[in-house]
Amino acid sequence: MELTTRAVHVANPPFPDGSRPLSVPLVQSSAFAFESADALAEAMAGPDGRYVYSRRGNPTVRALEQTLAGLEGGAGGAIAFASGMGAISGVLLALLKPGDRVVAQRCLYGGTYAVLSDLAARYGIDVVYVSGDDVAEFEEAAQHPATRLLVLETVANPTGQVPDLPGLLSAARWLGVTSVVDNSLASPVLCRPLELGADIVVHSTTKYLSGHSDVLGGAAVFADDELRRTVWPRTVELGACADPFAAWLTLRGIPTLPLRMREHCANAEALAARLAARDDVEAVHYPWLPGHPSYKNARSVLSGGGGLLSFELAGGRAAGRAFIERVGIARLALSLGGVESLVTHPASTSHRELDGPALAAAGIAPGLVRMSVGIEAVDDLWADLRQALEQGAP
Ligand SMILES: Cc1ncc(COP(=O)(O)O)c(C=O)c1O
Repeated sequence: MELTTRAVHVANPPFPDGSRPLSVPLVQSSAFAFESADALAEAMAGPDGRYVYSRRGNPTVRALEQTLAGLEGGAGGAIAFASGMGAISGVLLALLKPGDRVVAQRCLYGGTYAVLSDLAARYGIDVVYVSGDDVAEFEEAAQHPATRLLVLETVANPTGQVPDLPGLLSAARWLGVTSVVDNSLASPVLCRPLELGADIVVHSTTKYLSGHSDVLGGAAVFADDELRRTVWPRTVELGACADPFAAWLTLRGIPTLPLRMREHCANAEALAARLAARDDVEAVHYPWLPGHPSYKNARSVLSGGGGLLSFELAGGRAAGRAFIERVGIARLALSLGGVESLVTHPASTSHRELDGPALAAAGIAPGLVRMSVGIEAVDDLWADLRQALEQGAP
């Protein structure tokens, strides 16, 4: 079945009596009762048996995990988390030990960069950054025998960089390095990194998967069941598990994901082209736009340009900050991937942990504006951006 059909028919196991509710039931219970001490002891053995305690597993959460594994093509299943950062921290903490090396793409989400910096400073993990575009550079960094993980993002936030996923993932596999790809910005509609050779896909389901800016969540989806069984006990200890209601809200969003992604992509592509044609916009970063450094990679691994674009205004930091206060339909707010358009200033928000040189290395200009393009009518969005641009110097 095509992804659009699979998204509508989310995992929804029948009741024991055989009746089948159309909507996934919300099982809002922290614990589950047992008929015998033996049955309870047996249920404690692993991630997939009977439900015991909702930090270890819950029917609503499992329906989400099965749905995400189905959408991403994760033969090893999935683990749902309380947030995207819960998923990223859970996977990194589960798979790394002091002395290990991580090779990571330079332009990563600020939160991921912060965890890796913390692991380097406090836990003796060696983190080496590479461009993401150069397989030979990665191979050289990963030759070190302690190399354990490769960390990438399908579409980097906010520059829109799309790394050479097929090249890097096959090199990682050949070198025996486990690869982790954050697919939050592409969603499984635009790219399925496991099909390109990734071992683990992580998501902030807060973004496109849930899609309505009303819930936090995260997930890790695994190519291989053994890897999920390695990560699961550590995540149970960490406690960053998905809450059943959060899982239910996320499941509520998934059936419209393919429809929403189509609108996000069409609107963002149109706005990127209109912005790029203006003299008061110095640069537009949208990977589907000819001229973007990742244009070739984007066209080969994505089935659409995505809903996130960023642009640099003539006038630098002051102009960028003024612009985000001048828009009316687009709201000034963090996050992305919801149905409504949002604008932010990355240098003072998501990437504020980065100093000047690190910001420059990540490709983030001081006056960069990031826009999560929603599904409103594109001409209304354009009129909003145009009036904000035309108000003149701040
Ligand atoms: C690419 C990416 N990964 C991970 C995260 C973290 O997700 P969460 O806020 O759900 O913890 C974000 C949040 O903005 C993100 O943009």
